Amino acid sequence: MPPAADLLAWYARQKRELPWRGETDPYRIWLSEVMLQQTTVATVGPRYARFLARFPTVEALAEAEWSAVAEEWAGLGYYARARNLHAAAKAVAGRGGFPRTAAALRELPGIGAYTSAAVAAIAFHEPVLPVDGNVERVMARLAAVETPLPAARPLLGRLAGGFMADPAARAVPGDFAQALFDLGATICTPRNPACALCPWMAHCRARKQGIQAELPVKPAR
Ligand code: ADE
Repeated sequence: MPPAADLLAWYARQKRELPWRGETDPYRIWLSEVMLQQTTVATVGPRYARFLARFPTVEALAEAEWSAVAEEWAGLGYYARARNLHAAAKAVAGRGGFPRTAAALRELPGIGAYTSAAVAAIAFHEPVLPVDGNVERVMARLAAVETPLPAARPLLGRLAGGFMADPAARAVPGDFAQALFDLGATICTPRNPACALCPWMAHCRARKQGIQAELPVKPAR
């Protein structure tokens, strides 16, 4: 595995300035991750600020009428996400705050493996790694995994989780996760990856074999 420190150094220089970067409030981090699940970074930016202006705290969201939440979610799609967001806000307000571990966060309505790990890593510095499509692509290329998705998913998750054994990643799990998101979004892109700019170029097995653009292998259809 390549050194986490190389990616973190790249992130310190190249990270995207996004509205939720530097946030420490679990409510704000959770909201950004839920919005980003099916909506692009560019669309989420302004809608995130607007949502927080209307519902500044998890208590405010918990107390809001569903119709007000639905109205504010309009155009973001996937209303089930907004329903779950509202239900989880009520659960969090009812218990007096956010649970502080991925395992406990996962008990909340609509919070799955990805969201619980993202909030635990970014807000509570738990050494866990949220695995999204960006992270899977980076792992598939680093290790030249030619097994198609979705069968490759458990292996890609284990490869990603392996980085938490690296003390540099473990020290700042939230930054490390977001560094992987940014690497996947800006360098290790699905098509025409910018390998020459990649902090891990020398460690990438797919690049060595010249097969980086073919990975990860899509499900047969
Ligand atoms: N995609 C999902 N979560 C993200 C985050 N925190 N930063 C950038 N892209 C993301």
